[in-house]
Amino acid sequence: MSGNPIAPPWRVKMVEPIRMISRSRREQLLEEAGYNVFALAAEDVYIDLLTDSGTSAMSDYQWAGLLQGDESYAGSKNYYNLQQTVQQLLGFEYIVPTHQGRGAENILFQHLIEPGQYVVGNMHFDTTKAHIEVRKGKAVDLVADVTHDSQAHHPFKGNFDLEALDAFLADKGPEQVAFVLVTVTCNSAGGQPVSMANIRSVQEIARGHNVPVYMDAARFAENAWFIQQREEGYSDKSIPDIVREMFSYVEGCTMSAKKDALVNIGGFVALRDKDLYREVSRLAVVYEGFPTYGGLAGRDMEAMARGLKEIVDPDYLAYRIGQVAYLGKKLRDAGIPIVEPVGGHAVFVDGQKFLPHIPKEQFPAQALCIELYREAGVRGVEVGGVLAGRDPETGENIYPRLDLLRLTIPRRVYTNEHMDVVAQGLIAIGERRDQVRGVAFVDEPPILRHFTARFRLV
Ligand code: F0G
Repeated sequence: MSGNPIAPPWRVKMVEPIRMISRSRREQLLEEAGYNVFALAAEDVYIDLLTDSGTSAMSDYQWAGLLQGDESYAGSKNYYNLQQTVQQLLGFEYIVPTHQGRGAENILFQHLIEPGQYVVGNMHFDTTKAHIEVRKGKAVDLVADVTHDSQAHHPFKGNFDLEALDAFLADKGPEQVAFVLVTVTCNSAGGQPVSMANIRSVQEIARGHNVPVYMDAARFAENAWFIQQREEGYSDKSIPDIVREMFSYVEGCTMSAKKDALVNIGGFVALRDKDLYREVSRLAVVYEGFPTYGGLAGRDMEAMARGLKEIVDPDYLAYRIGQVAYLGKKLRDAGIPIVEPVGGHAVFVDGQKFLPHIPKEQFPAQALCIELYREAGVRGVEVGGVLAGRDPETGENIYPRLDLLRLTIPRRVYTNEHMDVVAQGLIAIGERRDQVRGVAFVDEPPILRHFTARFRLV
């Protein structure tokens, strides 16, 4: 964690070549892409830190599992393996596989949310919020205040504000609140963990108001690792024990297996209650597939089951989160402003602080994102003013408190030398930061503008 080198607990058996194209070619491609890195071909990116989702390297054990895919339409053996793994690891009796996390959100939320109801979270992920709103529900974020201070060192910046939660549930009551959703780690807050004490209290408070609690489990193992490292009473508990305790406080979960199940595609809903399972699996038939495959091939389910077993290995987690911390330390030591403390899957660079000469109207984090590709062939992603979009009522740009560049680290993919290249790139930009130019929209799509917008340099 402290930046001491931790060697990976695996060795490399197969490689995928990557290459750095010339600077002049990168300049040209940026121009062609309308200065939006989403429009770049992945092959033209040297180090791709766009997301940790679906980008993991699978192990030989997982690849071997692909060859044992049972592609029966109903009752595939891989489904039963997956079910058994989820029962043992997470403690849920019932599982519905889905094509990815948002597929799980879709079928669970359709059943749980009535129009007009609230869904209270620490900080909902974008697709989660979208699925709540598609159901005409209202997404509410009640993360603790400290989370909004990018420099505040708190061990669990994904925690709920428990007083606010209690007051909200008391005010609205169970008729108006569909459920509480705990996102671990809290991606939108920077991959920040939620403490066991906080999860437990959320459950107690919600039970007191007759409101069920679910978990968005995408990065559950990373959260468990932080609990083991940082929370009193957990340092001598095993990761699987911590994972089981975390899930013991909730009725079920949605899972994007593209993160902490170490697969390139997949997800699931896991549940305790048989009746609820029946309802949700009926919706799965409509939107995903028969409940024993849910939009996945048998082989995908096998890789997922195997990935779930590998993710709770403490050596893996120490290296994984150590690597994210390694990049964070390099940047911090070089005086580059990052969100503190570094979370589980990404390092966030503060665009406004790094490029103070660029006004927020010219999107400094987007400018930094462009510049990092130009400088080092590295693709990060803006999580700031461009992503935030416009207020639907006033049409004005929403400028979030933090305008960030997310450097998201895929699992088991890059070495620390790659992290050195990323850090070196940002350091080089820092030395000539005055020359970095802001951006303006050339083409601004009305919704989800960050994916397809085109810009020009100001
Ligand atoms: N929940 C969380 C916390 C997520 O981070 C994501 C995806 C999802 C749900 C949706 O899962 O992509 O499998 O449908 N996050 C990715 C990211 C896309 O880049 O942070 P999905």
